[in-house]
Amino acid sequence: MRLCLNIDHVATLRNARGETQPDPVTAALLAEQVGIDGIVVHLREDRRHINERDVRLLRELITTKLDLEMAAVPEIIKIACDVQPELATIVPEKRQELTTEGGINVIDDIEKLSSAIKDLHKAEIAVSLFIEPDIDQINAAAEINADFIEIHTGIFANAVSEEDQFDELDRVRLAAKHAKKLGLGVNAGHGLNYINMKQMIQVAEIDEVSIGHAILARAIIVGLKEAIQEMQKIIQSK
Ligand code: PXP
Repeated sequence: MRLCLNIDHVATLRNARGETQPDPVTAALLAEQVGIDGIVVHLREDRRHINERDVRLLRELITTKLDLEMAAVPEIIKIACDVQPELATIVPEKRQELTTEGGINVIDDIEKLSSAIKDLHKAEIAVSLFIEPDIDQINAAAEINADFIEIHTGIFANAVSEEDQFDELDRVRLAAKHAKKLGLGVNAGHGLNYINMKQMIQVAEIDEVSIGHAILARAIIVGLKEAIQEMQKIIQSK
């Protein structure tokens, strides 16, 4: 199972003060130094975190793979075709949401998505659709020639009881198996963390997970001691 890092939160922190640090591009290059399999960024229409400069620099500098999360809207499709990430993951996008809240409805939006996939394929970009672990949605994704699906794991991650968690993991497993039978690549993401990944790794059909919040949250905690000590050294050097 490959691990890709979503670095949107690094840009959120940078933008909180309108400054240049922390730079998501630096974070991506560091992640590559420790063997990450790919970098994921969501270029939102409102540009609340990642911006075009980040995407273009990442494209130039990273050596693993770039997964560009995006809404299927003309402005972003045009940027994607120009930047040429290895993978474009189409996600739903609502202005009010804190983060992506669930999968896209491929069946309801089939024409728009089919046309987006055609445009991206013309630019030789593989396409993934972020969807719920639902057989009908997976069939629709295959019908319009998606290359991958990314299974939304948020319901699994938010399940409170062990029974609900088990049921949701089973849904993910069945969905992954079905997608594989149809020849789709299978990614998964949302809400995966250091605890629930121990269960998710049991789903052998998942090729790749995309994790953001848990890893960046942990980085702040495990990196905090070193950051304080660096500053203490400067103060003590006087
Ligand atoms: N996959 C998709 C499609 C997402 O939108 C997100 C969140 O930006 C993730 C994965 C990563 O989720 P998390 O930050 O909860 O790990």
